[in-house]
Amino acid sequence: MATTSLPFETVRPTPDGRGLVILDQTRLPEDEVEYTLSDRESMAEAIRLLRVRGAPLLGVFGAHALAALASDRAARGERDVARLRGAFDDDVAVLAATRPTAVNLGRALQRMRTSLDGWSDDHPGADTDATAAALRGFAREIHDEDQRMCEAIGTHALELLPTSSDPTTVLTHCNAGALATGGIGTALSPLYLAHARGRALRVFADETRPLLQGARLTAWELARAGIAVTVLTDGMAGALLSSTRVDAILVGADRIAANGDVANKIGTYGLAVLAHRHGVPFYVLAPTTTLDPDCPTGADIPIEQRREVEVRSGMGRTTVPAEAGVWNPAFDVTPAELVTAWITDEGVRHSWP
Ligand code: MRU
Repeated sequence: MATTSLPFETVRPTPDGRGLVILDQTRLPEDEVEYTLSDRESMAEAIRLLRVRGAPLLGVFGAHALAALASDRAARGERDVARLRGAFDDDVAVLAATRPTAVNLGRALQRMRTSLDGWSDDHPGADTDATAAALRGFAREIHDEDQRMCEAIGTHALELLPTSSDPTTVLTHCNAGALATGGIGTALSPLYLAHARGRALRVFADETRPLLQGARLTAWELARAGIAVTVLTDGMAGALLSSTRVDAILVGADRIAANGDVANKIGTYGLAVLAHRHGVPFYVLAPTTTLDPDCPTGADIPIEQRREVEVRSGMGRTTVPAEAGVWNPAFDVTPAELVTAWITDEGVRHSWP
């Protein structure tokens, strides 16, 4: 079990196991609202709308979603195991099609399928209730594993943060914290561990246009934990690095290709270039579930393109004239050569592969 806890849960099954309760991340920081999802479309929509988001959390959520949907079918009287299995495969296809970049989602869905196959072979006469219960157990395993991975990432990364500087000052982008995982986060996990040990911290958080995960989510969860956080707009990062001592840049990842290239939130690549220019260590923190050995390079990573409206009227008012076009990729790729180290639950890698 994880040793560091936070006062909110990103996702949990409902008490009857037939639905999911999520903290609706689109409502933060104004409203801390939980939202109950009880059918496949609302679960898929929660991913598409970023009510749940962040690569590791998408995997955890996808696993719980498959278990909840099967549990609901069994509770509504489905007695045919073959039909339950057919619907499960449909669920996998629908959820996998929601967002393409984070490898964790598809990976967790496939893992649930493989676990189910193995379990079914071992339990040939099992009924639909037992099958659904087994799926709930597999989802819990994936969730617990993610918690352990977050802690391990934080422990390894803590070794890299200088103890000499007071306060230790870092810059982060997007949200790779507890809100993005089933545990204490990836890029933010060493900060939670350092804070728990009484180390003074100063965190700069990029706003992260267009959906403001840095301003809305990273600042919210760090402030809640009592960690000093300052928000800057994305375009200010260069000015910050040229005027202020920053000990390290910490970011998460949505997919790491076989050659070490990193897909992460749009703006990460620009930050890596700036880090190189200013001699600031650029660290990528991600669980091993984010590694994709089947993707040879960053150029092979599918990049999600999102709707124009997020840029045209992101702040609730029109910010782009109708005559202008909009380009809105959700992620970019940072080449491995710009990464100082990759920190996974298995340890620190200074070179790749
Ligand atoms: O579009 P989002 O909010 O899902 O993007 C999230 C990120 O890019 C995170 O940095 C990444 O998933 C790592 S989360 C530990």
